[in-house]
Amino acid sequence: MENILPPANKDANLRDYRQARQSFDWKEVEQEFSWHHTGKVNMAYEAIDRHADDPTRGQRFCLIYEDENRTEKITYHQMRDLSNKFANVLRKLGVEKGDRVSIFLPRCPEYYIAMVGCAKVGAIFCPLFEALMEVAVGERLTDSEANVLVTTPEMARRVPFIDRPYLRHIILVGAKNMALKSSEVSWEEEMARAPYDFDIEWVDLEDPLYLIYAFGSTGNPKGALHVHRDMVGYLITAQWVLDLRDDDVLWTTADPGWITGTVYGAFAPWLCGVENLVRGGRFDLEGWCRSIQSHRVTVWYTAPTVFQRLMGKGEELMKGYDLHSLRHILSVGEPLASEVVYWGRRVFGTPIHDTWWMTETGMIMIANYPSMPIKPGAIGKPLPGIVAAVVDPQGEELPPLTLGELAIKKGWPAMMRGIWHDEELYREYFSREPWYISGDVAYMDDDGYFYFQGREDDLIKVAGVMVGPTEIEEALKGHPAVADAGIISKPDPLRGNMIKAFIALKPGFFPTKRLKEELIEYMKKHFSPRIVPKEIEFRSNIPRSEEGTVIRRVLKAWELGLPA
Ligand code: WTA
Repeated sequence: MENILPPANKDANLRDYRQARQSFDWKEVEQEFSWHHTGKVNMAYEAIDRHADDPTRGQRFCLIYEDENRTEKITYHQMRDLSNKFANVLRKLGVEKGDRVSIFLPRCPEYYIAMVGCAKVGAIFCPLFEALMEVAVGERLTDSEANVLVTTPEMARRVPFIDRPYLRHIILVGAKNMALKSSEVSWEEEMARAPYDFDIEWVDLEDPLYLIYAFGSTGNPKGALHVHRDMVGYLITAQWVLDLRDDDVLWTTADPGWITGTVYGAFAPWLCGVENLVRGGRFDLEGWCRSIQSHRVTVWYTAPTVFQRLMGKGEELMKGYDLHSLRHILSVGEPLASEVVYWGRRVFGTPIHDTWWMTETGMIMIANYPSMPIKPGAIGKPLPGIVAAVVDPQGEELPPLTLGELAIKKGWPAMMRGIWHDEELYREYFSREPWYISGDVAYMDDDGYFYFQGREDDLIKVAGVMVGPTEIEEALKGHPAVADAGIISKPDPLRGNMIKAFIALKPGFFPTKRLKEELIEYMKKHFSPRIVPKEIEFRSNIPRSEEGTVIRRVLKAWELGLPA
């Protein structure tokens, strides 16, 4: 018997999924923006300035920033002024519409001020994840040809000199009273001097807003270009998926260096004018519970790894905090195990709602909505206005319960508009008209729910890090008993993803429990614990193509009991 959870909240913003799907029209969403009446477009205006003078919204906190040492609150009104100031700083440095400005900062209020300031001058901001090491930082700076970099003196050490050919200015946050080089300016000093007034640069809806680098396995950095029109998709997903209402306090735990943090940790809640919490520093169970309690967080958007840390040992600790303000909880990024969905219901009184999207899609595409029954294990159904399908290598739609590639009919507002400096790669995503091909493997059930099954390019995300299965297969083949091996990932009750190995044995070896244990021991001893399979199944042979690559789709079908 299939398990279905009843809707968590029938009074959600999106009341009737089926009806909304039938009558949906993007034009209606566009009417909610002021540019629809004025013709003047800029994300920064819609997200911040529009609320600034509103007696209620203007005084709300668009940013409640908190870490172990400090709490800082910035209202929409103050954010308008601060971002105006930063826009003036950029202008003074000669930044023009279309220029790239890299932001390489830890989570801090300046990060958010910088993003809005960039949008106001029409510059393209490039968020760089705080933990990137020298090589990655250099590649991204060179690829984006950024003229300006916002960073801290500490992190600037990870910005290699050799990769600065385009860089003209470095704006240093926290360099007060330090001796600066000619290319460097101090954030604090420049901001203190800059005027409060700024005339926003009005742009076209199709003008670029930001360039963000996707998580790839290896090879060149992949910069997805997003435009101001993205806001149409942010608003509707914030209303329907995050279910944001006027008096909500949202906490999206992702770093703004990843797209979830850029979109749902900043612009999407701002478009709704709600309060937005950002917590800096690392995961710290008690600190996190304290933040939820003291700021009365109502909507929480986080990731499977966070739930894993709360489950088990964390549960006892959580009892010391009042977390009753939470009314809606969502997850993204890695498979959300069914157990976690149920656990959420038991501990928070609301199941965890999974969502699926990518850096390239720019906004949530498939989700579980509060007013819709949840099938634990499913990523949900496509947003009204989005057409999703499972397709074969020719782009033909496959019937339900058949594995294939997850595809989205192209043309939604937040779709990436290019891969920076890589037109060919961009076209590959759209090579099977009319689809955007996600590279994720999935199937759909008879009720239209989608199930994520891994990556077509075989990458497996384990604890947030991509691993190539070939690497693991080759490692296993180093054991004397193994003739061939094939790896897949499958949802783990606790860890999000886990690795499963199918193994064909050499003649003379027998498939015993003992041999399984020995293989796991062997992997533990010789390789990183990240790539040790959790499960092993013996098969007489491993399906390979003529080119010799493992046909992973067959392995997944074996696993699910679907036709191979
Ligand atoms: C994976 C994150 C399982 C998927 C917004 C996708 C997921 C990649 C889910 C994009 C989910 C995203 N369940 N896997 N609900 N959501 N993924 O670009 O493989 O950092 O292609 O965007 O994460 O990762 P990205």
